[in-house]
Amino acid sequence: MFYTLITGASTGIGQEFVHEFARRKCDMVLVARSERRLQELSEEVNPSGNLDIHICAEDLGDPDSPRRIYEYCARKELRVGLIVNCAGFGFAGDYASMPLTELQEMVQVNVAAMALLVRLFIPDMIAEKKGGIINISSVGGFQGVPFLGLYSATKSFIITLSESLHKELGDKGIKVVVVCPGYIDTGFHARAHQYPEHSILPVSEPSVVVKAAIKGLYKNRLHVFPTFLDFLLVFLQRFLPRRTVLRTASFLAPLKL
Ligand SMILES: NC(=O)c1ccc[n+]([C@@H]2O[C@H](COP(=O)([O-])OP(=O)(O)OC[C@H]3O[C@@H](n4cnc5c(N)ncnc54)[C@H](OP(=O)(O)O)[C@@H]3O)[C@@H](O)[C@H]2O)c1
Repeated sequence: MFYTLITGASTGIGQEFVHEFARRKCDMVLVARSERRLQELSEEVNPSGNLDIHICAEDLGDPDSPRRIYEYCARKELRVGLIVNCAGFGFAGDYASMPLTELQEMVQVNVAAMALLVRLFIPDMIAEKKGGIINISSVGGFQGVPFLGLYSATKSFIITLSESLHKELGDKGIKVVVVCPGYIDTGFHARAHQYPEHSILPVSEPSVVVKAAIKGLYKNRLHVFPTFLDFLLVFLQRFLPRRTVLRTASFLAPLKL
């Protein structure tokens, strides 16, 4: 029996993954800080108790948390066959005044925790000769985004690492996909002080991301763009000077009111 481990499972896109995997009768390990919310979600998606859902409440801002998550699974003999790295947050504003604690936490949660979790779990997947990793990045990871610079850089990291692992682990039977959504209707923007309602870009539902991610995993895609517009925005960059790409990103992600 294999488990799907989902970080950032408590709200937004991660929560939608939990609903979808419950519909697919998958056993799960749910990770986020809000233990009570994870418990409520687990009861909501598993009213009959037929699924085996574990709650592993951890703050991924703590550098030791990925190891604790791995040890939690090892102690309970939960063989993780799929990891969904969804936990993450953004911060919009002047880089010069970005709180240092926020900066360190973002690198830890968006970048280090994801890289460590993958590193800790893949030896077991390699031994089984199968497994999957879904990493949630963003269209914002394909170029810098003014006033969203660190967030955009963390998402670039996820794309780069995922591309390398797609090839490196693909040869060992493990599928790695990186999902690159545009604006999605979650609590992300309020937390980041970002204003998608001031952009000309549409805002999609979390289910659009989840359906595309799972389809992409089955098809062993490298990049997954949940909407055609997401794909187009990245594809068109090939024909534009980088300065134009940067100006376009600034226009499409208005952060200064
Ligand atoms: N919404 C968008 O427009 C959009 C677009 C592109 C990419 N994304 C990416 O999608 C992913 C999910 O975001 P979302 O839109 O679903 O936003 P969200 O609703 O704010 O969800 C963020 C999730 O990350 C978890 N998280 C945050 N900090 C954490 C920490 N220190 N330790 C453990 N878990 C933590 C949160 O759980 P707790 O608060 O309970 O810990 C929550 O479950 C993120 O990686 C984001 O960068 C979002």
